[in-house]
Amino acid sequence: MKIDTNIKLPLAFILYALLALVIAQMIFLFRHDLVNAGQFHMPHIWMGSHFLLLGFAVMVAMGGMYQLVPVAFLTPIWNQTFGFVQFIFTAGGITAFAILLGVKSGNCIYGGIVAIIGIVMFIIQMAITIFKQEKKNKMTLFIIGAITCFFLTIAAGFLLAWNIAFGGIASHSTILFSHIVLGITGWFTLLIFGFSYKLVPMFSLSHGFSMKWAKPAFFSYIAGLITLISSFWFGNDLLQTIGWLLLSAGFSFFVLDIQEILTKRFKKKLDKPFSFALLAILIGFSIHVLAFLFKISGIQDPIIWGWLIYLYVMGWIVFSILGYLYKIVPVLWWTYKYSDRVGKEKVPLLKDMINNQLSIILFVFFIIGVVGLTFGGIVQIEIVVFIFQMLLSLTSLVYTISIIRVLFV
Ligand code: HEM
Repeated sequence: MKIDTNIKLPLAFILYALLALVIAQMIFLFRHDLVNAGQFHMPHIWMGSHFLLLGFAVMVAMGGMYQLVPVAFLTPIWNQTFGFVQFIFTAGGITAFAILLGVKSGNCIYGGIVAIIGIVMFIIQMAITIFKQEKKNKMTLFIIGAITCFFLTIAAGFLLAWNIAFGGIASHSTILFSHIVLGITGWFTLLIFGFSYKLVPMFSLSHGFSMKWAKPAFFSYIAGLITLISSFWFGNDLLQTIGWLLLSAGFSFFVLDIQEILTKRFKKKLDKPFSFALLAILIGFSIHVLAFLFKISGIQDPIIWGWLIYLYVMGWIVFSILGYLYKIVPVLWWTYKYSDRVGKEKVPLLKDMINNQLSIILFVFFIIGVVGLTFGGIVQIEIVVFIFQMLLSLTSLVYTISIIRVLFV
């Protein structure tokens, strides 16, 4: 059975995503005054955050899944032509939606509907593909959980966009909190957990590990999501504390498994991009614990929580993606271009496909940028925010160029 995906499909998603990453950082640079004032609840910030979360992170996730789901699930993608049509709807919809959010929020619903059609097409594509998988594994559980949260995120997003356009929904902020938790905590975190179970052993050459914490991680995390979101709707503080505790417990179980995988690895010296993705796990875990500690210490300052969400998005979601992508694109391109020619002619080695020295500089700059920006934002010194946001914008641009250059090797 042929399970490969036509390389143009994941690449289309990844290239769009890289462009969106740079655009998002430029928007934050342009409106560094709002970033500095901690005013995240503003149209230009919505535009930047959706270019980052939908344009970059969701699009890489989709491209990555088109590539990895067939390999990990040993099941071909249900319909690749449908995949290309889905790309056009999603990319067009996200672009229109994010721009409208920033410049004419009252009309964002129209772009939003096109984006939602594209996302629902993706969910249908994945649901049918997973349904066809003969032998379900633990990863399947995480992917199904992630996709369910994704669907609920866009349903909540639709209500928010509807309310901005036509009004009439009273619980706007409760829907917004649920939307944020379902999107960044449910969808992305469960997805990264699921794929890490495949990618961490692959990149560290690990064998003989148990994955015994996968189910406890999954069920505590889901219980945490349900409890936290219920706490918003019932306005119950204790439920919120329990929700954070369960989420932190779920994340800890996942960390235990990753630790075991890494101790049983054969590759002693890990690549820099992969180590960066592992650092992201540490950041994600620390932020869960911090959220729980802030909650029990009664810290409610919206600026502090705003920056905690920012750190979560950049340090956990974006860093994981940046690390994995730096490894996945060269493998994808090398396999497509050279795997058939090995032994017949001289072909480049996988490690020659991308500049690994540059990756160290890029990742260090990403870390300095995020730490510096968060510091500047918390103490609210505009020039500091500007300098570090400039660093993040330039680093994103160079990162994008270095990935695109792989396609010319
Ligand atoms: C995985 C996908 C998504 C994630 C992770 C996500 C995340 C977020 C976050 C973090 C915010 C708060 C941003 C801020 O206050 O600056 C937000 C706000 C918003 N989102 Fe999304 N979003 C996603 C998809 C969508 C979709 C598909 C739609 C609609 C079609 C949507 C509609 C909105 C609207 C209208 C707001 C502003 C609401 C307000 O503050 O009053 N989102 N989203």
